[in-house]
Amino acid sequence: MKNRVPLIAGNWKMFKTISEAADTAKQLANLVSDVEDIDIMIAPPFTALAAVSEIIRDTRIDLGAQNLFWEKEGAFTGEISAPMLIAAGCQYVIIGHSERRQYFGETDETVNQRIKTASTAGLIPILCVGETETQRDDQKTFSVLDKQVTKGLESLILDEHHSLVIAYEPVWAIGTGKTASPDQVQEVHAFLRDLLEKQFGNMHANATRILYGGSVKPDNASELMALPDIDGALVGGASLKPDSFARIIHF
Ligand code: PGA
Repeated sequence: MKNRVPLIAGNWKMFKTISEAADTAKQLANLVSDVEDIDIMIAPPFTALAAVSEIIRDTRIDLGAQNLFWEKEGAFTGEISAPMLIAAGCQYVIIGHSERRQYFGETDETVNQRIKTASTAGLIPILCVGETETQRDDQKTFSVLDKQVTKGLESLILDEHHSLVIAYEPVWAIGTGKTASPDQVQEVHAFLRDLLEKQFGNMHANATRILYGGSVKPDNASELMALPDIDGALVGGASLKPDSFARIIHF
C-alpha cells in the first residue's frame, strides 16, 4: 500500500487560448467532481493561468505553470517570476521539461536555480528528468538521471513546508506513442527514490511523489499506476481533451 497521494498532472504545453483553456478546465472540473484521494493539476500556458484559476477555484483541481525565472522582478524581458505565478493562482511549477532542455538551453544548473526559487517561494516544483533514446541505447540511463537529479536538486532544502515532485519522462516516450514498459519505469523510479534517500533521507524520499510521463493514455494509466514506486503521471497530449484526461484521472 502506497502512503503517497497520487498526483495526475496535465501539461498543456503551448496549446489553448484563454477561452479554449477556460472551456477545457470547466469541462474537466465537471468530469472529475467525484474524484477523491487523488491530487489533480493542470498547467495551461501563462496567458490562461488567471482565467483557469478562477474556474477551478472551488474544485479539486490545482494550478501549475510550465516554467519560471529565478529573479523576483527586473529587466528580464519575456520572463515570469514565482510571485507572479503565485498571484495568478499557481501551486505547482514544472521545471526542466525535456522540451526546455532541448529547445531553450535549459541546463542542470539553471534547473537548480529555478527549483530552489520555486520552493523558497512556496510553489511545489515538479522536476522533470529523463534520458534520450541514444543515452538509453548506450546504457547511460542511470548516469544521466543521477546527474539530472543530483545537480538539479543541489542544496535544495526539504522540510514539512517544502515538498517536491519528480517526473520521470524518458525523452523517447514523449509525444511518440511509445511508453516505457512497466519494468523499465519501476526500475528507474526505484533508482530515483534511492537517489532521493541519499540526498534528503528516508522520510523525504518516501514522501516525494515520483510521476511517470511519456505517452500516458487512458488505456495504459492503470497498469503504470499499479507499480509500487509510481505516484502519478505527467500527461501531455492526452490531457488536452477533458474526457481522455478525466479517464486517466479515474484510472
Ligand atoms: P505526452 O507528453 O503525454 O504527450 O507524451 C508528456 C510530457 O511532455 O509531459
